[in-house]
Amino acid sequence: MNLVNVSTVTEFFLLGLSHSKDQQMPLFALFFTMYLVTVLGNLLIVAVIGSSQELHNPMYFFLGNLSFVDICFSSVTAPLMLRNLLWDRKTICFEGCMSQLFFLFFTGSMECFVLAVMAYDRLVAINNPLRYLYIMHRRMCLALIVFSWTFTALHSLLHISIVASMTFCGPNKIHEYFCDLPPLLALSCSDTSQYDLLVFTEGSFVTMSPFVFVVISYCRILKTILKIQSSTGRYQAFSTCSSHLTSVGLFFGTIFFTYFRPSSSSSVEDNRSVTVVYSVLTPLLNPFIYSLRNQQIKAAVKKIYHRMFRINTKDTGKCK
Ligand SMILES: *[C@@H]1O[C@H](CO)[C@@H](O)[C@H](O)[C@H]1NC(C)=O
Repeated sequence: MNLVNVSTVTEFFLLGLSHSKDQQMPLFALFFTMYLVTVLGNLLIVAVIGSSQELHNPMYFFLGNLSFVDICFSSVTAPLMLRNLLWDRKTICFEGCMSQLFFLFFTGSMECFVLAVMAYDRLVAINNPLRYLYIMHRRMCLALIVFSWTFTALHSLLHISIVASMTFCGPNKIHEYFCDLPPLLALSCSDTSQYDLLVFTEGSFVTMSPFVFVVISYCRILKTILKIQSSTGRYQAFSTCSSHLTSVGLFFGTIFFTYFRPSSSSSVEDNRSVTVVYSVLTPLLNPFIYSLRNQQIKAAVKKIYHRMFRINTKDTGKCK
C-alpha cells in the first residue's frame, strides 16, 4: 500500500494562463469582472423570471434554468482560477481535481441539454403554436429538465469513475487554469487508449446529439419563418435565430475543439484560449443573447425596478 502511495500523485499544479507576475493582476481584474457580470446577470434573470407572474411559461422556465446552469458552470472553474491568479500556491489536491472535473462535465453537458430543450421549445412554439401549451405542459417541462439532470449526472459519473481510477505517477503540472480532461489524460501513466475510445464514442454522442438537434430545430424554425409574409416579422425572427445559433456554435465548437481531436495536434497555447471561450465567455454572453434583448424580460425588469423605487420612497416618507 505504501509503495503504491509513494509513486502516486496526490496533488496537481495548475500553472494557468500566464507565468509572468505582472500579467497576473490585470488578468485577475479581467476575469473577476467577467465572473461578477456572469453571476449577477444570470441571477437577475432567475430572480426576474421567478418573481414575475407574466413570465411563468415554458420558454422563461427554460431560460431560468439556463441561467442557473450558467452560474453553476462558471462557478466550477472561475473561483479556483481567480485564487490561482492571486496567490502563489497553485496546487489542487487529487480529490479536488477529480470533483472539479466531475462538475465540469456535469454542468457542461447540462448546458448542452438545456440548449437542446430550449430549441425544442421554440420549435413547438413556432411550428405548432395552437398546440404549444398543450404539448409543453408543466409536467412535460419538468420531465425534460429532470431527465437532463439525471442523464448528465450518470454520464459524468461514468467518466469520472474511469479517470479517478487511472494512475498518475509522473509529472503533475497542468498548463491550464483548471482540471480538464485532455491535460489529465496526458499526465496519466495508465493506458488511456480504451478510454479515448469511450470519449470519442459516448462522449461525442452526448455532446453531438444535442448539437445536431439544435441545428435541425433552428433550420426547421427558419423554414417556417421564411414563409412569413411581413418582412419586419421575418427579420425579427431571423435575428433571434441567428443570435441563438451564434451562441450555440461558439459553445459546441469550442467543446469539440477541446475534447474531440487527435491529441498529437493540440498545442498548449491553442488549448488555453479555447477553454477560456467555453468556460468563461459562454455563461457570460448567454444572458445577453437569450434574455436581456427580450422585450418581455426588459419590461419585467423595469416593473420590478419601479416597484422597488416606489416602496423605497414610501418608506422614507413614513420615517420622516
Ligand atoms: C426550471 O424548469 C422547471 C420546469 O419547467 C421549473 O419548474 C423551474 O422553476 C425552472 N427553474 C428556474 C430556476 O427557472
